[in-house]
Amino acid sequence: MTATTPTPTPTPTSPSAPHHQPLLRPMDLAGLRLPNRVVMAPLTRARAARDGLVPTPMHADYYGRRASAGLIITEATWVSRQAIGFADVPGIYSAEQVTAWRRVTDTVHALGGRIVMQLWHTGAASHPDHLGGRVPAGPSPVNPRTRSFTTTGFQETVTPRAMTPAEIAATVADYRAAAHNARQAGFDGVEIAALGTFLIAQFLNPRLNHRTDAYGGDRTRRRRLLLEIVDAVAEPWDGRCVGVRLGPYLAAGDLFRPDAATLADHDELVTALNDHPVAYLHLRGPDRPTPDARPDTAALARYRHRFHGPLNANNGFDRETANAAIEAGTADAVSFATHFIANPDLVTRFALSRDLATGDPTTYYGGGARGYVDHPVSTWQDNPGQQP
Ligand SMILES: Cc1cc2nc3c(=O)[nH]c(=O)nc-3n(C[C@H](O)[C@H](O)[C@H](O)COP(=O)(O)O)c2cc1C
Repeated sequence: MTATTPTPTPTPTSPSAPHHQPLLRPMDLAGLRLPNRVVMAPLTRARAARDGLVPTPMHADYYGRRASAGLIITEATWVSRQAIGFADVPGIYSAEQVTAWRRVTDTVHALGGRIVMQLWHTGAASHPDHLGGRVPAGPSPVNPRTRSFTTTGFQETVTPRAMTPAEIAATVADYRAAAHNARQAGFDGVEIAALGTFLIAQFLNPRLNHRTDAYGGDRTRRRRLLLEIVDAVAEPWDGRCVGVRLGPYLAAGDLFRPDAATLADHDELVTALNDHPVAYLHLRGPDRPTPDARPDTAALARYRHRFHGPLNANNGFDRETANAAIEAGTADAVSFATHFIANPDLVTRFALSRDLATGDPTTYYGGGARGYVDHPVSTWQDNPGQQP
């Protein structure tokens, strides 16, 4: 038989061609080989079974549909019963929860994906309704003046108790145990949520942390809790696979402000992370002033130069701005939250320049399948003029 020379396939020149999209280049993160840099950001969806706060079969369905993400970061998950501060959010502190999460990780892995668990503790931002009537504990008796979502709706936070040194040590131990449980449940790593109005961010913040012991006072002492948690969480992971998520630009009420002191605290904190087993930094940038504004990449670059490992950037990115940020070297990967709610096949849509669907915010927190596992994937019939 005579061999025929195959007709060369024309090199795609459309900007949607994968090699033109930095987002679609593989990379190493948290000891994992990611096939692309489209990360699913953590999303609290408040659909755990109320009895035992366990993930349900719908969780496996929800995460499995998103397995083509370069990396999935789960919804924030309770490290202990004391950490609870939002209704119907799952935990990773009981054997039942570990078993239920195993179904999720098995599904994602069977579909070729990678998944890390975000660890959460609300501290003073909890509410007595979550804690059997007990007053929540935080760094100092300062009301964070925020709201907690309880089974009877949003409620104003109260003035908390100051954690005792023994409670701080127990909390660090709870994080270590949760990280161990996450490994038992088949996760590929863990991410420490150190942002928002929650426990770790409360300790970092001098407006909430008035302590005079080893965990309060100057910047070094205020960041001590986080760094102890990083070291503790890394133990069951042999010093690998631990990410840290920071949000220095949060503006919430008058207690959480991205002023010069907050940003300088984070300058030093990010530099200090280099001396601890941190596999990646997940940075939430400033909120955009208008829906059409581009993400403020200068604000991300401030921390980019201080951290020596990979940077996963977030907040307000789309395909074009994310590709530009990676191309410019401002970020190694970009995480998407709201786009992943409505577009389980976000990677495919980016690769093929498909239109994105928009989610329904009334289904973000709580409820059932609607808005959770019913978003369709795009098909070859969609946008027929845009096939590569
Ligand atoms: C419904 C919802 C739930 C969220 N839950 C979490 C969470 O559990 N942990 C976290 O760190 N951030 C959480 N966030 C913040 C997102 O991860 C992300 O920072 C934010 O939506 C901006 O990213 P985006 O512009 O891609 O949507 C949540 C956001 C939304 C809309």
